[in-house]
Amino acid sequence: MGKILVTGGTGFIGSHTAVELINAGYEVLLVDDFSNSNPKILTQLETITGQNPDFTELDLCDEQKVTDFVAAHPDITGVIHFAAFKAVGESVNFPLKYYRNNFYSLINVITAFNSNVNLVFSSSCTVYGQPDQLPVTEDAAVKVAESPYGNTKQIAEEILRDTCAVSPDLKVISLRYFNPVGAHNSALIGELPIGVPQNLVPFITQSAIGKRGPITVFGNDYNTPDGSAVRDYIHVVDLGKAHVAAIQRLESAKAEGNYEVFNLGTGKGSSVLEIIQAFESSTGEKLDYKIGPRREGDVEQVWGDVTKSAEGLGWKAELDVNEMMLSAWNWEKYLKDNPF
Ligand code: UD1
Repeated sequence: MGKILVTGGTGFIGSHTAVELINAGYEVLLVDDFSNSNPKILTQLETITGQNPDFTELDLCDEQKVTDFVAAHPDITGVIHFAAFKAVGESVNFPLKYYRNNFYSLINVITAFNSNVNLVFSSSCTVYGQPDQLPVTEDAAVKVAESPYGNTKQIAEEILRDTCAVSPDLKVISLRYFNPVGAHNSALIGELPIGVPQNLVPFITQSAIGKRGPITVFGNDYNTPDGSAVRDYIHVVDLGKAHVAAIQRLESAKAEGNYEVFNLGTGKGSSVLEIIQAFESSTGEKLDYKIGPRREGDVEQVWGDVTKSAEGLGWKAELDVNEMMLSAWNWEKYLKDNPF
């Protein structure tokens, strides 16, 4: 088995993917600058996997340091590049912070490998905006981005596609995530939002544990069955497994060309009110919520067509919204007793 470099390896999706890579028999090399993660995640990973993952604190925007790091690890066989800023609202207020970090890090990584590596990139369903057809397939038009964050995902995909076109030794899969939620079933790792969570599920768990006030449902006048907005929520453990499948595809000769894109979702949409209900029924906790106005920039409904990922990656999401909510809740309770 190979050695996989996981950038952003102590982050939410990075840490869950590290576990699945180790479970699948890969060696992992984690790097992070802890700008949006906690060093304690490394201890948690060791408890979960029984292995002490190799870790280096590294700022990927420092080109020389990235070059030196890659030169010192000639046995790396693949890269999963998670490291990026991801807060939509912050990106509107600080666009250069987002463009600088998300592009420099990606470009430095590709350059350090001399455009000769297998690379999996974290993209997002945000590139589709409000799709014209649902479920949305990978062929759907990319819409004008609603935020600098969304734009970094679109442009990063273009950077990768254009570079692959002239670099046959660079093999890339961009994974377009729908809405990643949930936590590892050990409850030892999960999402660690800084400040007031902007995303629905961390807000729900923090509200339920008493850290926040009532939940506001952003709009109940959408053209959806219950009026609240619909998303394709996906369990972060399923997402981690999909990254292993993507690395395996790059290692095999199966890929079509050297640049491919796959949706990662469940293929099923859930409304905000359905998510609230799933949380209540799976945990037995009652939530306090009120209906508020729509949030600016939100799309009405989006869920993914996952046919291509089932065929190309041999992967399918297995965990449902109840398991997503219960695991997120168990993680929130763990954090209360074991603050980071
Ligand atoms: C956003 C980003 C997506 C990113 C994801 C995770 C866009 C369009 N989407 O997704 O790219 O991958 O965050 O970081 O940029 N909601 C409430 N009350 C709340 C919070 C949310 O009702 O307190 C609703 C939202 O209006 C939305 C749904 O819950 O309908 C999900 O929201 P959220 O978790 O923030 O994710 P997205 O906005 O879908």
